[in-house]
Amino acid sequence: MLRLPLSLVGDGYLVPCVDGTDRPYLSMDAAASTSALPEVFQRLEEFLPRYSSVHRGAGYKSQVSTRAYDEAHTAARVFAGREGRDDVAVFCRNTTEAINHLAYRLDLSPDEVVVTTVAEHHANLLPWRRYASCRYVECDEKGTFGVDEVVAALEGEPRPRLLAITGASNITGWSPALEPIIDASHHLGVPVLVDCAQLAPHRPMPLEADFIAWSGHKMYAPFGAGVLIGPSATFQYGEPFLAGGGAVELVDLDEVLWTEPPDREEAGSPNVVGAIALQVAMEHLLSIGWDKIAEHDQLLSERLRKGLGAIPGVRVLGPGGRSGGTLFPGESDADLLPVVTFTVDGIHHGLVAARLSAEFGIGVRHGCFCAHPYLMRLLGLSHDEVMAYRADVREGNHVSMPGAIRASTSLSTSTEDVDRLLDSLSTIAGGSPPPIPYIQDPRSGDCYPDPEATSWYVGGGNFPSCGSG
Ligand code: ALA
Repeated sequence: MLRLPLSLVGDGYLVPCVDGTDRPYLSMDAAASTSALPEVFQRLEEFLPRYSSVHRGAGYKSQVSTRAYDEAHTAARVFAGREGRDDVAVFCRNTTEAINHLAYRLDLSPDEVVVTTVAEHHANLLPWRRYASCRYVECDEKGTFGVDEVVAALEGEPRPRLLAITGASNITGWSPALEPIIDASHHLGVPVLVDCAQLAPHRPMPLEADFIAWSGHKMYAPFGAGVLIGPSATFQYGEPFLAGGGAVELVDLDEVLWTEPPDREEAGSPNVVGAIALQVAMEHLLSIGWDKIAEHDQLLSERLRKGLGAIPGVRVLGPGGRSGGTLFPGESDADLLPVVTFTVDGIHHGLVAARLSAEFGIGVRHGCFCAHPYLMRLLGLSHDEVMAYRADVREGNHVSMPGAIRASTSLSTSTEDVDRLLDSLSTIAGGSPPPIPYIQDPRSGDCYPDPEATSWYVGGGNFPSCGSG
């Protein structure tokens, strides 16, 4: 029986801190990327001696590799609950590539509309803007929206070609009501893409979505593979996203006959190793079971949200937002993923993240989390404020770029890990002065221990010192 938390490759790795102590690294940044499962690593060690080219080689190793790669496609469809359906799983690099792939493949035109939402990360915004016009579902001050708001956007004219919606936010851990939204969209004849980058490691993906996309590096298989799934009819006709070898039946100088999907969509030598890694991770999550994963997530999510909200000066953003340890009226944190974003009064988000790393050995992410429109709304910034920082960024200055800090957990995170973050953050938010000066890189907005004062950071430049505001 598998017990949670489990171990990941690299757990306990010692990292240097500015006080001269090496501490076990604590990743609270699973929403960005997770470490590998040991089972993934072991399978790759077994497989690599047998690795060879796929689909073209006659050699024994090519046959083994081809079979393993084909099985990984099947595993992706099983993981997504698509067995017995005429769906195709296409291996891509990650969710971003998967959505770019789909946006190209839908053969959209600029006068056609894709409905999407302001809660998306950039991967589910920018590809649609490249090929079509977007109509956005707005969020309320908590960062949420309901089925009715989505339906209103779907009913607008011109009627949309697609609804592209997040499965769960990478900032707030909030999931829209996917089932009724997908039902309503289908009722209006609009197919749905659900961006499952954040959802896939935590919950089953929605069965009724027409298209889904997710990444291996956020679910314990950081070897460069992600997946796009959709009906095979979408990929049967027209030009594939990438043109090249492996995607064709026959080529002459005046003609190309494309082959059948998924090969048609995977031109070039594919990432067999990444696909096998992802297969092992998917099978491992299924063997743990979604109920157990959800229970572990909920335990950590609540502890993190309650703990953060109880630290004076810390403001948790989004639904489940708290002040003084108390939920804002009418809010609930049930069903939120363990992805929690917050600000600390009077301390720059970059400095909080840098101090957690350099003084406590804890990795978090700070900034805007590749979801700028959503974060600006969650921070409640006015139009003038947004215009002011945009002007600075155009000049190459990120010092005043607004942002927040995000803590997120994985299947290897324990309650003690959450408490270690909370204790460290209490020290920083409580006004304990940094033991060494920090500097800020104006080009990135990131802060670092001043290399003049410590040998901890060796890549520093002549940056200004990092203020607390
Ligand atoms: N990978 C991005 C994140 O960390 C979107 O949330």
